[in-house]
Amino acid sequence: MLRIVRHPHPALRFPSRPVLQIDDDLRTSVRQMFELMYDARGIGLAANQVALPFRFFILNLTADREQRTEEQVFINPEIVKRHSTIEDEEGCLSLPGLYAKVRRARKIRVRAYDLTGELFERDVDDLLSRAIQHETDHLDGKLFIDYLEPATLKNFTEAIRGFELEFRQGQNQGRILSDQSLKQKLAEMPHPSAAFAATGYAPGEEPAVAASEQPAEPGV
Ligand code: NI
Repeated sequence: MLRIVRHPHPALRFPSRPVLQIDDDLRTSVRQMFELMYDARGIGLAANQVALPFRFFILNLTADREQRTEEQVFINPEIVKRHSTIEDEEGCLSLPGLYAKVRRARKIRVRAYDLTGELFERDVDDLLSRAIQHETDHLDGKLFIDYLEPATLKNFTEAIRGFELEFRQGQNQGRILSDQSLKQKLAEMPHPSAAFAATGYAPGEEPAVAASEQPAEPGV
């Protein structure tokens, strides 16, 4: 069973490995990730946000589970070109409730495999470009808060500490595995399969997103 993990879960900082095979395990994980993403009202989700340290992410810019034709899967993605920059607001399902402006490339060219194993290359801009950059960062163990200036980051110190406190408390109470055990599970994981996901939460202990906590704007 997959679940979305939050900062400071080690999966979010773990170097993701390339996907070597597109099989039923991967397809099942992708489907579960879409459902989790819709539940959290997100528009994108990277594999390591569900504690699968493999290089793929999903997107549906509509955030609407009825719009299946808008679903996109990027496997082993690479951003091969970047053009000019633009600043805009971003959020993240692993840091729910935090939003900040981040400067990113305005236009990019992305190359990736889709779920049928076909290599594609696309030039994109606007929200799609931003979402792809945000998710590709996830695969590299990077979070959007890493880009914030110290002055901006100061405004989030308390919120970020809150996430850290919640996670450490879970570990101290034995509801979440230790960082060391999680890192070991991440390193040993043979496949991007839900059966192996290193969320580390005891059953029924997933971080529930309360209605009031749900992002007002799409998170990724
Ligand atoms: Ni994110």
